[in-house]
Amino acid sequence: MAKESQQPARRHAARRALVTGAATGIGRATASRLAAEGAAVVVNYIGDSGPAESLVNDIEGAGGRAVAIAADVSNEEQVTAMFGQAREELGGPVDLLVNNAGIEKPFPLVDMPLDEWNKVLSVNLTGAFLCAREAARGMIAARAPGAIVNVSSVHEVIPWPSFGHYCASKGGMKLWAQSVAKELAPHGIRVVNVAPGAILTPINQALVDDPEKAREVQEEIPWGRLGKPEEIAATIAWVAGSEADYVVGTTLFVDGGMTLYPKFV
Ligand code: BGC
Repeated sequence: MAKESQQPARRHAARRALVTGAATGIGRATASRLAAEGAAVVVNYIGDSGPAESLVNDIEGAGGRAVAIAADVSNEEQVTAMFGQAREELGGPVDLLVNNAGIEKPFPLVDMPLDEWNKVLSVNLTGAFLCAREAARGMIAARAPGAIVNVSSVHEVIPWPSFGHYCASKGGMKLWAQSVAKELAPHGIRVVNVAPGAILTPINQALVDDPEKAREVQEEIPWGRLGKPEEIAATIAWVAGSEADYVVGTTLFVDGGMTLYPKFV
């Protein structure tokens, strides 16, 4: 039977996945989904281990395999150590990386502290690079094909005042991903970006809690609602699987139509 006809439920059996920033939001939903589809999953987190450990317990309780590993993705040594530990715990190199960890905090250009600029670029872009480098090294050495999925944003293409650092990180992620997609394709490693719009995650909690802001955002979305983390997780699970084998070096926008610029008439 062709791989394509496998039930999605077992789509990622025998896969060794690592999801960064997996304690909450899109990362959490993605780790959960990949585990439910058969992958052994590294739940990367930073800070409090509680949410990551509880996710690992949930996954194991459902019969899946997962391990929580703390690492700051912007720190080279910590990233290298995490991939080493992942290899030991999962019994081989990671063959599915989901670069999800991301941060944002608004500052107009004239008030932007260098420190904040650097922090956002370090986590969102340098973190993706460091993790992709380790993942690619492992897959190439083992001659194991695989996938790298970057959680980008509609702000790959939509400018966003006061979020210049964030837009720089996501715009950078677009061309970086396309460049490494070309490098890695001969090794059978697909690189794809998934670009969410406004999703109901902790990053957007303030927005959800403020009815006026929530209404404004809904007006930016032709589909009329914010997205759910599970909807992004489902897209990532598909795009990382064999059915999406011909999806290479592109960005899949999952945004309820936000990139259609609904206010532009
Ligand atoms: C940001 C969200 C924002 C959304 C749409 C995402 O990349 O993380 O805070 O709501 O883009 O603007």
